[in-house]
Amino acid sequence: MNLSVQLAPKHQRGLLLTNPVMTASGTFGYGTEYSHLFDIQKLGAIVCKGTTLKPREGNPQPRLAETACGLLNSIGLQNIGVKALIKEKAPLWARWHVPVIVNVAGETIDDYAQLAGELDGVAGISAIEINISCPNIKAGVAEFGANPKSAAEVTTAVKAATSLPVLVKLTPNTSDIAKIATAVAEAGADAISLINTLKGMAIDITRRRPLLGNTTGGLSGPAIKPVALYMVYEVAGAVDVPVIGCGGITTASDAIEFIMAGASAIQVGTASFTNPRAPLDILERIEQFKEKEGINNITALIGTARR
Ligand SMILES: Cc1cc2nc3c(=O)[nH]c(=O)nc-3n(C[C@H](O)[C@H](O)[C@H](O)COP(=O)(O)O)c2cc1C
Repeated sequence: MNLSVQLAPKHQRGLLLTNPVMTASGTFGYGTEYSHLFDIQKLGAIVCKGTTLKPREGNPQPRLAETACGLLNSIGLQNIGVKALIKEKAPLWARWHVPVIVNVAGETIDDYAQLAGELDGVAGISAIEINISCPNIKAGVAEFGANPKSAAEVTTAVKAATSLPVLVKLTPNTSDIAKIATAVAEAGADAISLINTLKGMAIDITRRRPLLGNTTGGLSGPAIKPVALYMVYEVAGAVDVPVIGCGGITTASDAIEFIMAGASAIQVGTASFTNPRAPLDILERIEQFKEKEGINNITALIGTARR
């Protein structure tokens, strides 16, 4: 059975995945945290925690709040920084056969270009995913993703600084996501992933204060799936680069919905917190679905709901 998907068909090196199931940044650490729980190398790709030039401690606690069918987080890009990632994590990844994609975030266009430059040529890194969509830090990131011009500028700068395939991850916190997608595709994005979290908040009625230490956070989980699916449908209709669907995917049928909407691959995020094996469970059930439906090649399912 062929489950393989090519996520960077226009790129010289390409980004070939053995299957379309990826992990979502920030919900699967550096992959190493999950490697004793199941064979993570069976997955299509691992996307690591958002990485910045300098290490970050993130936002004040509390940083997580459960909601009806979802999760609010305001982690604020806590991470070890790019230098430690290259020194401590990449050598481990270089021994894996599953591709690892490094998610990056910055406050200026120059930050993104520098990050891309540092990661270029590092063994163990197969691609870069640019996060222009985090709702949890004040400067940069989210603003870039909400504006087609700045989204395109970041993409151009990163493409110029690296020979790796570049995925651009979009925010749903914008009025016209297809416009942003078109701008980053024209700027050279090899693939587009979406969505990041939706901006939200919760209030502690006893303290009469916002529940999260950062006041607002990003909503993820099953609650956002219909929104994410709609946006993937919109974006897949607007661009001619591969689209990676993300947002509330918990079961194989969720994943298949995204593929039918036009996604070439999917990312599993919050679902890993309730079931750490969720990405592999989803992959195994996609295989069963393919067999039951008599489909030889997963690519035959991509965008079938659009025709
Ligand atoms: C705790 C947490 C941390 C996250 N950190 C990042 C991050 O560092 N970079 C990023 O691009 N997205 C980050 N995200 C967003 C997820 O990758 C994903 O886009 C979003 O949660 C929607 O997918 P889901 O509903 O399957 O979780 C984070 C999400 C959560 C819940």
